Amino acid sequence: MHHRQIKDFPADFLWGAASAAYQVEGAWDADGKGPSVWDTFTKQPGRTFKGSNGDVAVDHYHRLEEDLDLMAQMGLKAYRFSVSWPRVLPAGRGAVNEAGLAFYDRLIDGLLARGIAPVLTLYHWDLPQALQDEYGGWEDRRIIADFAAYCGVLYQRFGHKVQHWVSLNEQNYNLTNAYLLGTHPPAVQDRRRFYQANHHAFLANAQAIALFRQTVPKGLIGPSFAYSPCYPSGSSPEEMLAFENAEEFTNWWWLDAYCLGRYPQAALRFLQANGEAPIIEPGDAELLAAGKPDFIGVNYYYTTTVTDNGLDGQTLQRINTTGQKGTTPSSGVPGLYRTTPNPNLATSNWDWAIDPTGLRTGLRRLTSRYALPLFITENGLGEFDQLTADEQVHDDYRIDYLRQHLLACQAALQDGVELLGYCAWSFTDILSWLNGYQKRYGFVYVDRDEVAVRSLRRIPKDSFYWYQGVIARGGRDL
Ligand code: BG6
Repeated sequence: MHHRQIKDFPADFLWGAASAAYQVEGAWDADGKGPSVWDTFTKQPGRTFKGSNGDVAVDHYHRLEEDLDLMAQMGLKAYRFSVSWPRVLPAGRGAVNEAGLAFYDRLIDGLLARGIAPVLTLYHWDLPQALQDEYGGWEDRRIIADFAAYCGVLYQRFGHKVQHWVSLNEQNYNLTNAYLLGTHPPAVQDRRRFYQANHHAFLANAQAIALFRQTVPKGLIGPSFAYSPCYPSGSSPEEMLAFENAEEFTNWWWLDAYCLGRYPQAALRFLQANGEAPIIEPGDAELLAAGKPDFIGVNYYYTTTVTDNGLDGQTLQRINTTGQKGTTPSSGVPGLYRTTPNPNLATSNWDWAIDPTGLRTGLRRLTSRYALPLFITENGLGEFDQLTADEQVHDDYRIDYLRQHLLACQAALQDGVELLGYCAWSFTDILSWLNGYQKRYGFVYVDRDEVAVRSLRRIPKDSFYWYQGVIARGGRDL
């Protein structure tokens, strides 16, 4: 569909940028914070790129005012950040750490004072280590009540100041890494445990939303999903069926549970036949029904192209964490689908397909299936950046990526998608969980690498000034 006229972005569109606590804050044991599973995991040999961790990260905790001033200079309308659960509840539940909450007071008040809307993510993977040790974290139903209690503390404290809330960030990506690939804590590889942990996360998500309805009646809440729309490799019936399988197992499994309160039928049957389906208890369906979101948070980086995969076919494989282009193997589930490169699309150095039209397609699919407002809570390009001798970063490739994806958002608006906002990933450079500091995403360069913490100086990249202009023009003339 080619439009002659293109719709403007809404006047109240949330032009934003994002981050997550573990990736920016540092101060990993400051002011009474308890350890998270990432504090523990990154210190085990061989887990991350060059042993990188978030002990200091980009030291946002201690450079808060400077970072807030940069956000104001950029003209951001929204800033998405996450709260570290063990900073607020060092043991995961029970005693509240007032000093931890005070940091988020300063952050939220600092944003509001600068006219920037806070978008608060309740959980971006940094589970309190205490709950992992006590009962295995997401593998035990006790997590549902503990997560709700933690959320309740934040609702009480910030419910009158924060309108937009993200419940779980990328449950699909995080738990796939944690329980299938063994690349996030607790580094398990077991399909049955994977589906059970996910089931508890869906229930925890619903319980948190149900509580939100009572405590923050005027707020909006939804999960952020790592959404990679699928393409079939070709139009043969076998390839089309593999495509349906991939959509059902990598997208609808999560989104149907969040938005419709049930699992997709064919996927559930497949898992039941293999003894991998989650145990569903009486009352679970009612809880899911009581915790439907107000919007879907969309984290979009790439599309995935799939083809058919025999019963003795390709299994799930780890992602590229080196930035050596072309090293990502095909990955799949035997009997269902496997990934294949898309010859129509260029890729980043980490082999992520660059596909702005895939974003438009994806936003339309979500709108058709769920009829909910959408909020792009992450979109961006991780690349090697070069700091020039005169302290600049000419990241024209990032400007191009973001520009194309914003144009795709505009086309989706024209298509009738309701889009609340767009948070680019990320505001400053951040610690990439498995890729260290060399895979940079920020509008603001931070002087550090995996080995040396260096000056941590903030240097706005070319993309910073470009996005500043985009926001000033309200997205006109992209
Ligand atoms: C998402 C996460 O998976 O994508 C972010 O929510 C993450 O935390 C981002 O940094 C980019 O992924 P990566 O692996 O390139 O850092």
